[in-house]
Amino acid sequence: MNAFLDIRQIAKAFGGNQVLEAVDVQITRGEIVGLLGPNGSGKSTLLNVITGFTPADAGTVFFDGQRIDRLAAHRIVQTGMARTFQLPSMPTRMSVMEVAMAAATAHHGVFGTLLGTAAARTTERAARDKAAHLLNELLLTPVRDLPASALSGGQKKLLGIVCALMAEPRMLLLDEPTAGVHPNLRRDIVAALQRLNAQGMTLVIVEHDMHFIREVCTRCVVLDRGHIVASCRPDQLASNERVLQAYLGSAGAHPLEASA
Ligand SMILES: Nc1ncnc2c1ncn2[C@@H]1O[C@H](COP(=O)(O)OP(=O)(O)O)[C@@H](O)[C@H]1O
Ligand SMILES: [Mg+2]
Repeated sequence: MNAFLDIRQIAKAFGGNQVLEAVDVQITRGEIVGLLGPNGSGKSTLLNVITGFTPADAGTVFFDGQRIDRLAAHRIVQTGMARTFQLPSMPTRMSVMEVAMAAATAHHGVFGTLLGTAAARTTERAARDKAAHLLNELLLTPVRDLPASALSGGQKKLLGIVCALMAEPRMLLLDEPTAGVHPNLRRDIVAALQRLNAQGMTLVIVEHDMHFIREVCTRCVVLDRGHIVASCRPDQLASNERVLQAYLGSAGAHPLEASA
């Protein structure tokens, strides 16, 4: 089988805490996969491993046929995979537009090496056009000149998506994109993600909200204490014994309650 993203036998421990154990996940091009699991089950750690922010202790990750698990995070972005963060932190003084522009620099390192040259100015103009386009797509044009730190939690999530998209990825991994987001903005995020998917983007989304999962995800993968315990359609979650078991007695966000 030739998966677009092929995660094999990933293991990760922090000290004596075995957070991921022999994790296998295969994702096909064009899917929208929900990555579920109780708090502390290892979802963010798995995203961190895939995107090069945390080195795995064992296992391999292939993306579009290329082995990426030994690459630095910025190299992984260059292969066409970008991510957002659970808690986006924004610099206090930069404007929304500047933050989006800076993402291009972080992804490609272009301004640093070409600074002051005509090529740099062309590249900067291209980045500015791209940032303006993406800010418009994610409904942030009205606030593009505000300090990024002044945005609401939901708008920061949108800006996090803009920053990830500056790399023009083919796969986007999102860590709780709608947690704590106002329902109106949540609808905008859903629409934006569906539009991206319609344009060919493969999505992996850590999410707790069952309405979101049912509306957006084509498949769900469920983590429990570092093990994948289920891979099924959203409507099959509530009747899956291993999924119910995973959430039994777990504190915090619980996607299955919302489906009752
Ligand atoms: N950098 C780290 N150092 C030590 N422990 C960590 C680190 N990152 C995550 N953990 C631990 O790994 C476990 C899983 O965390 P996480 O992947 O954030 O879970 P989730 O995103 O599913 O809520 C938790 O017990 C957490 O405390
Ligand atoms: Mg997390």
